[in-house]
Amino acid sequence: SGLKREEVFITSKLWNTERGYDKAIASFNKTLENLETDYLDLFLIHWPANEKQFGDEANKINLDTWRAFEDLYKEGKIRAIGVSNFMPNHLEYLLENAEIKPMVNQIEVHPGWPQTEAIRYCQRHDILVEAWAPLGEAAALSNEVLQRIAKKYDHTTAQVCLRWGIQQGILPLPKSVHKNRIEENIHIFDFELTDDEMDVIGSLRNLGGQCKVPDQVDF
Ligand SMILES: NC(=O)c1ccc[n+]([C@@H]2O[C@H](COP(=O)([O-])OP(=O)(O)OC[C@H]3O[C@@H](n4cnc5c(N)ncnc54)[C@H](OP(=O)(O)O)[C@@H]3O)[C@@H](O)[C@H]2O)c1
Repeated sequence: SGLKREEVFITSKLWNTERGYDKAIASFNKTLENLETDYLDLFLIHWPANEKQFGDEANKINLDTWRAFEDLYKEGKIRAIGVSNFMPNHLEYLLENAEIKPMVNQIEVHPGWPQTEAIRYCQRHDILVEAWAPLGEAAALSNEVLQRIAKKYDHTTAQVCLRWGIQQGILPLPKSVHKNRIEENIHIFDFELTDDEMDVIGSLRNLGGQCKVPDQVDF
């Protein structure tokens, strides 16, 4: 690319089979090797160990994994450490027992799947929420309410979805393989949704996306 390493922000995640202190360290080192770099900007635990799969051990497994993240952070190998798909019940135990609290929680948030409680909990604890699938994997884009609001501001439906995230103080992570869409998804700072529009969008349901409940999955 010709870009310097410090011009790129690299996030990676620890996969679910690699939980626990030793495996997390080994997996992180393998990630650095694969990416041919000597540090990550952000590293996340991809999914919490949940009670459905791990019973009473779930919280301890998450903490054991987190200890590895804390040590790698202290060694300067990761600039920021966080989690993904953690709900308040998973975060509570970590916050009570961790030395360094998670800085980021990357969760699914989009119109139709607002995750209000989890967002408020994270914001109370100064944890930045990143929204994955902020367009509901493109399924939200055909919603008529969003389309009407987009027309009013002479923007696109995708931009309205992203703006709705930004105005809640969260960081949407839209994915596109098209240059024009990547540019479009950045241009969301020249209009502002009203409080009513924020509420209307927040009350939409069932627009698509994965809408996974982290405690109910078994992977
Ligand atoms: N932490 C987790 O557990 C987790 C889970 C799933 C995903 N993620 C991450 O979340 C990020 C985004 O999620 P996602 O890709 O699943 O869903 P998304 O960003 O909500 O939607 C992506 C879809 O929307 C289309 N799109 C993007 N911008 C558009 C625009 N301006 N107009 C029209 N269509 C547009 C893309 O098509 P084109 O690419 O063809 O433009 C693609 O089909 C990814 O980086 C992914 O790695 C994280």
